[in-house]
Amino acid sequence: MRVLVTGAGGQVGLDLIAELCAGGHEAHGSDVVARPGAGVLDPAVPWHGLDVTDPERVDGLVGEIRPDRIYHLAAILSARGEINPQRTYLVNQQGTWNVLEACRTHGVEQLIFTSTIAAYGPGLPPTVPEDVPLHPTTMYGVTKVAGELLGEYYHHRYGLDFRGVRFPGLISASLPGGGTSDYALFMYVDGVRHGAYQAFCRADTRIPLMYMPDGIRALVELPEAPRSRLRRCIYNVAAFSPSAQQIADSVARAIPGVRIGFEPDPRRQAILDSWPDALDDAAARADWGWQCRFDLDAMTDDLVPRVRELLERDPDQLGNAPH
Ligand code: SER
Repeated sequence: MRVLVTGAGGQVGLDLIAELCAGGHEAHGSDVVARPGAGVLDPAVPWHGLDVTDPERVDGLVGEIRPDRIYHLAAILSARGEINPQRTYLVNQQGTWNVLEACRTHGVEQLIFTSTIAAYGPGLPPTVPEDVPLHPTTMYGVTKVAGELLGEYYHHRYGLDFRGVRFPGLISASLPGGGTSDYALFMYVDGVRHGAYQAFCRADTRIPLMYMPDGIRALVELPEAPRSRLRRCIYNVAAFSPSAQQIADSVARAIPGVRIGFEPDPRRQAILDSWPDALDDAAARADWGWQCRFDLDAMTDDLVPRVRELLERDPDQLGNAPH
């Protein structure tokens, strides 16, 4: 199957492309950022410059590649998005619209969309299913909710096989891209490289998190499920919901002597407090057999050696990560 990935240079894209190639798919990467180096991306994978806010370029590329499936990952995340909400609207909203229109125009069969816990706002129960009132407080969340609705519209109106997941905060051995959930990843990265980290949240902060290999598996398994078994377009997927202190304790178990403290940043803490504690993913389990494999400690055991490897191989890779 020929697959196009937008935003492929981000945290999810490179791992996803590797998995798609391993599964025998012809994967094409696209992004505004330059092609990553050979150590990170297989040189055989085609890479296309793509600004998703440019409708002609999106249309031209989709017409040229004629993919069977598109993964639309291109987006500005929640924390970075609040620095420039106008730009975030263009990239996330106009970008999704452009991709949907290109799917319609060129008869792309399937579009996979990545939504998020940021679709939720304050005032909900600690564990949330999909169908509750959605009042996100960030531009990222607003555009993701709108993207979900637009995709469903294209599904009903034009028959596009639109599917997506609401992801928890994803954690992997890579440079995160401006998310508010990044405090969790930085406990690992700074824990390895500095032996210390001051998290920008309170110790009792609790949001849904997931280890990237589970996230990638969700993105590979959902598109393969028979459409007749899917009762909806967008599914919650869940893994674990530790407090920030519990993550720090898990890191300390793997990196003895590490010092993790808490210095909440009011703006990012407010975003974190607006998100649910946990996602109810019963629908995904029932409809397409979704099940996560990694809990917090299993992730820690797998991730710490990978972060070490990454820092040894390429110290610059994580050297300038902003907090
Ligand atoms: N990781 C994302 C963020 O923090 C949530 O989807 O913005």
